[in-house]
Amino acid sequence: MAMDTIGTASELRASIEAWRRAGARIAFVPTMGNLHAGHYSLVTLARAHADRVVASIFVNPTQFGPSEDFGRYPRTPDEDRTGLIEHGCDLLFAPKLEEIYPYGANATTRVEVPVVSEPLEGAMRPGHFAGVATVVTKLFNLVQPDIAVFGRKDYQQLLVVERLVRDLCQPIRIVAAPIMREPNGLAMSSRNRYLSTAAREHAGLIHATLLSMREALRDGQEIARIEATARARLEAGDFSVDYAVVRRASDLSAPAAGERNDLIALIAAKLDGTRLIDNLVCS
Ligand code: PAJ
Repeated sequence: MAMDTIGTASELRASIEAWRRAGARIAFVPTMGNLHAGHYSLVTLARAHADRVVASIFVNPTQFGPSEDFGRYPRTPDEDRTGLIEHGCDLLFAPKLEEIYPYGANATTRVEVPVVSEPLEGAMRPGHFAGVATVVTKLFNLVQPDIAVFGRKDYQQLLVVERLVRDLCQPIRIVAAPIMREPNGLAMSSRNRYLSTAAREHAGLIHATLLSMREALRDGQEIARIEATARARLEAGDFSVDYAVVRRASDLSAPAAGERNDLIALIAAKLDGTRLIDNLVCS
């Protein structure tokens, strides 16, 4: 099956216009590459919702902090292309930096999504969601999809994108995809390749902790205690914990002690210097 790889906005527009004239429904899967089964599940879901699937690979500098891993973020273009073809992607958009940031990444027009960007990842990674919201807006303007698929793995990102689309009146339906996991429960992530085999095995503790947070909520334990127990368990397992919390799933605000509807447990923790995030819907 043929899949074009396109690097410029003008070629992208030409391909998509032809599909649109033919009445095709277009789904879009934005990524930063180094694709794994989690990404491919998004492509499969996109296929099920549309006639044509466009994926993008762009390691977006504006969403990385100065001390983060932009420079060493894994780049595997050949494997990614093969995998995308296997999973039925019709077009890969892989632009150069100048195509997305014609005035340079530092001088770009920025999109900010207040409130929902602020806690958790937003607090730990200042500027991260402005970088995500900016690049997603640009990519949406370029591809103009009917549907875009995002993973629940990056739950806060999903909420940010849902608000962005609604607030900026973009006629795009956001489809949320379930989290794909390794057999030990570890959420699949490009950053897992920074971990040794032993550490990857041990990192299943994050999912195990999320499951016990959900159990404790169902048992009626107080939320503050559940969070403290989760943190202690991860720290005892040599994780450095950024947060281990229960929040309202709709907007990530803090629930009252006895609240039991619309909850989600979220964890961000470092293992051997690699930062991992995961979450589990609890009600
Ligand atoms: P990236 O980390 O490459 O992820 C691309 C998409 O794959 C996101 O929607 C993410 O939630 C989803 N994904 C990653 N791991 C997953 C898993 N284990 N199960 C299900 N879905 C998973 O997220 C980004 O890139 C960037 O921030 C981006 C949106 C492309 C903007 O630069």
